[in-house]
Formats: sequence, structure tokens, C-alpha cells
Amino acid sequence: MKAILGLNAYHADSSACIVVDGKLVACVEEERFRRVKHWAGFPAESIRYCLSAAGIRLNQVSQLAVNSGSGSNLCRKFGYTLFHRPTVSLLLGKFRTHLRRSRIKDQLMRSFPSETFTGKIIRVEHHLAHLASAYYAGPFDEAVAVSIDGFGDFASAAWGHAGDGKINLISQIWFPHSMGVFYQAVTQYLGFPDYGDEYKVMGLASYGQPTYASEMRNIVRLVDGGRYELNLSFFRHGRDEIDYSWAEGTPVFETLYTRELEDLLGPARQKHEKLDQRHKDIARSAQWMYEQALFHLLNSAYEQCECKNLVLAGGCAMNSVANGRITSNAPFRNIYVQSAAGDAGGAVGAAFAAAARDCDEGIDRGQMPHAFWGPGFDDSEIADILSARRNDLGDSACTVTRIDAEDALCRAVAQSIANGLVVGWFQGRMEWGPRALGNRSILGDPRRADMKDILNSKIKRRESFRPFAPSILRDKVVDWFEQDDDVPFMMKVLQIRESKRRQVPAVTHVDGSGRLHTVTAEANPLFFKLIKEFDSLTGVPIVLNTSFNENEPIVCRPEEAFDCFMRTNMDILVLGDYLIRRQDECAH
Ligand SMILES: [Fe+2]
Repeated sequence: MKAILGLNAYHADSSACIVVDGKLVACVEEERFRRVKHWAGFPAESIRYCLSAAGIRLNQVSQLAVNSGSGSNLCRKFGYTLFHRPTVSLLLGKFRTHLRRSRIKDQLMRSFPSETFTGKIIRVEHHLAHLASAYYAGPFDEAVAVSIDGFGDFASAAWGHAGDGKINLISQIWFPHSMGVFYQAVTQYLGFPDYGDEYKVMGLASYGQPTYASEMRNIVRLVDGGRYELNLSFFRHGRDEIDYSWAEGTPVFETLYTRELEDLLGPARQKHEKLDQRHKDIARSAQWMYEQALFHLLNSAYEQCECKNLVLAGGCAMNSVANGRITSNAPFRNIYVQSAAGDAGGAVGAAFAAAARDCDEGIDRGQMPHAFWGPGFDDSEIADILSARRNDLGDSACTVTRIDAEDALCRAVAQSIANGLVVGWFQGRMEWGPRALGNRSILGDPRRADMKDILNSKIKRRESFRPFAPSILRDKVVDWFEQDDDVPFMMKVLQIRESKRRQVPAVTHVDGSGRLHTVTAEANPLFFKLIKEFDSLTGVPIVLNTSFNENEPIVCRPEEAFDCFMRTNMDILVLGDYLIRRQDECAH
């Protein structure tokens, strides 16, 4: 047996995975255990879970693969540093980060004091890990592999040709030019300062027009070879000290844009300032610019590789709106984006890359046809929790019913959704990546125009401009969407057919689009059955699906789902076979 632990450590979305004999066994983000969004630090709890899922001890792990090569691209880093004369404190900060990352083994021993680790530590360059995470997870034997993010190991993008189990790097885009930084800086400018807020700008963009396109062209310049350059007068990261806080806890970023950006676009929006049309137009223009740069890079990568399959990773690969437009703007026909395309996914990529190095034919492709690689809990564990919480259940006048026949459970839940109730749905192993895909989901009726407001008032309290997603039976996509496509991880936004939009107002965004999740019986049989029951009842093969959480990481354990149910106004909680109803629930 050869076991490889993969880590994304001291980055945002710290995570771990385990690959045994070239096959993925488990992967999870540390935030799910620590209960702090995007937790950055050493993923000790994730490692503990991965070892237990594989049924092995740390001393049986032969390699520990990390998605950051401390020695990668040193010449470029050194050259840039010499030329730009950084401050002493900036150099010290970088040295501290370097030290933390180089002491992985010490940290491992501190986290597992009674264990031993005699294996090797393998450093995989950040973008190579992203590319490997996409290629080996995806279904294609041959593909163009592309990675785009903020920065990792001094690069912000990389692409190459993947075939016969190997990845050959073709090109990279280096610091300080980065579309990830561009999008993050505009996100901060629009008054969304938190790590991961970019998706808010993506949602807001649908309300605007690209009226600031010429300003955006001043900020980003597309150059030959699929490359792009930032106009650095609008950004601080190339010339000032930027403190990236990657210690334990929530990742924190300083402001990335300069006063010149405000001179160009007008005053920046403050966090709680009302959103006006100018903000929406700037969001739309930034989204447009990102797409122009993406398609420019992809068209060049296609010319270099001439393969119609694309695998995509890196934080920017989470831009599902841009992903949905790729086939209309580049020659690719088949696209795969794994469910944790951002830095969390680098843990899997590092482990895959390490496993492939030792194997002439590479390792298997198609390793991630579904996203259910996290912890799961059986019905006896759930029964114990309900027993321990019986006082809470009594105080809240809840009834508990066990329905162990799947068909009957799905029928009862589908009927409740059709009656307008909000259902917490907790089943099987937790999703890998930021999207709820039918195992840790909150579900509602997509036919109700008021369901978005109901969900926001009962649980989510999100910005009103953000859409909710449709989970749809895979074979019904062609009837409801303008493109017939597999989207198993909600990584593409497609247009809903105009004739259907009125039937599903709760999942139709202002521009007629939907960030769909296609569901098959193979990937998730129980969730498939539930949507099928809803289809039989209503004629609509879609349910509204949002993540099971309330301003926190997605729930991992049944206790967290139970607590979320208790402190919000969710109507029904389904934990495995157990259906918990508030007695005062009422159909809306
Ligand atoms: Fe990255």
C-alpha cells in the first residue's frame, strides 16, 4: 500500500486529502471542523479525518505532498525582489511565511504527538497542483489544463497539455500580473472586503451594463500569447507592502487598489453604502474584463494544444458565469471543473501529482465524478444526537418521525417542499468544495416568487441581489436550459429557456440565468429520487438548493445541522432517515 497525504496549508481554505495506491479516498476543508469560514493554517483536523477514512495511521503514510513549492520559481522571485527594493518589514513578513510553510513536519508532529511520520515531504509547485487537481479528477484522457488564480509560487496562471497521464506545462503568467488580484481589487472597491466575496460581484454584475469597458481596458491589457498585464498604477501589490495574514483563522487582505482607481472609476463604495447603478455597471464591466482575459488565454491555449477538452482550476475557475460562456467564446466543447477548484483543491492536486510522478502511465483519470468525499454519519449516530437533544426538541414542540423507506421519505419531503416549506436536508458524506450538492443542502420550491425572501428572512439573510441555485435532473436540462450540459458541481451559469423562466422564479436570476446543478442517479441516488418525486408532484424537475448553513461554513456534523435548525426558522430538518418537524410549521 502507498498512501499519500495532500495538503493545502497556510493558505486560505486550508484542506487535506488522502490518496491510496493512486486513488482518492477522502478530502475535506479545515473550515468545516474549525467552524471559521476559509480557515487558513495547518489542517490538522482534516488530516485526522483523512487518516480515519483510509483506516491508517500516520506512520503508514509514505509521502506528504504540499501544494506550494518553497523553492519554486526562485530566480523570478529573486530578480523581482532585487529590482523593486522591498522594505525590511516586507522581507521579514515573507520570511516568516516561508518559515511557517517550511516547518510542516514540525507542525505535523505537534498536532500528532503520539504518532510518527517517516515519509517524505514533496513540494508541488502551486499551479502544477491546480492543473493536476483538474486533470486527474476530470474524465478526459487528453485535455488542455488551465489554472488561474490570485497568486501562488509567484505565478497567477499556468496552462499546459495533459495526456497519457502526464501534464506538460506550456506557459505561465508571473507576478505582479493577475486576473485574480484584478477581480479581488474591484470586489474590495465595491465595498465587499471579505475573503471570497468575489461571487457577490459576480451576482451583482447581472444587474449592470458594461459601461466602464474602456476604463477596464485601461486597467487590464491583453497581450500576445494569451497573456495579460495589469496597469500597476491602479494596484498596490506590486509596489507596497501588502500584509497577507495566513496564520490560523480567517484570511485577511489589505486594500489592493490605489487612489488612482478611484480617480478613474469614482469614489469606492463603503461596506454598508447603498448599491447604486454605477456600482452595478462597474461590477458588470469587471466581469466583462475578466471574461475577455479568460477567453484570450483559452483561445491561445487551444491553438497551442488543439484539443477540445478543457480542465480548469484555480480560484478564478469558480467564476461560474464566465465558465458558462466558454463554449461560445473559445473552441472547447467539453469542460470539467472539479468541485473545489480553488486553493482547497490544491491538496488533491499535490497528492495526485506526487502519485503520478512514481508511475510511468500516470494515475487514473476520472477520479472525481461526484463531490462526496467528506465525513458521513450513520443513523445510530443521528439517533444518539436526537436522544441527547430531546429537551430542545420538546421545548420547540418538534415531532420526530423515522421513515426508513427511501421512496416514502422522498415523497414526504417533496410534498413538504411543494407546500412551500423550507427543508434542511442532511444525508451521506459531506461535499468537497464550497457548494452544497444535495447532501448538506437547504431546499425550497423554485416555483414560488417569494421563496428567495422566505429563505432570507428565515435563515440566510443574504444580500437581496444574490440568486439561489436550481438542482435539476440531468436528463431534463435540455427542456429547461438553452444549453444541454453536465454541471455536477454548480460551476457554470447557463440561460434558462425564456418560456420556462416564469415557472421557476425563485431560481431565475435577473438576467434569465441559473447556476445549475445537474443531478444523476449515479452521483447522488437519494437526491435524484427526491427531485424525481418533486417532478411527479409538480411537473417541475427542479428544486431550489442552497448551502446548509447560516453565515458559517457548511454544516459538517449532524449536531451542527440540528443547531442550525433550532436557531433559525427552518420548517423541517431531515437527518438521514429522521424527519423533524416543528409543530407550528405551516404551509406558505
Ligand atoms: Fe491558487
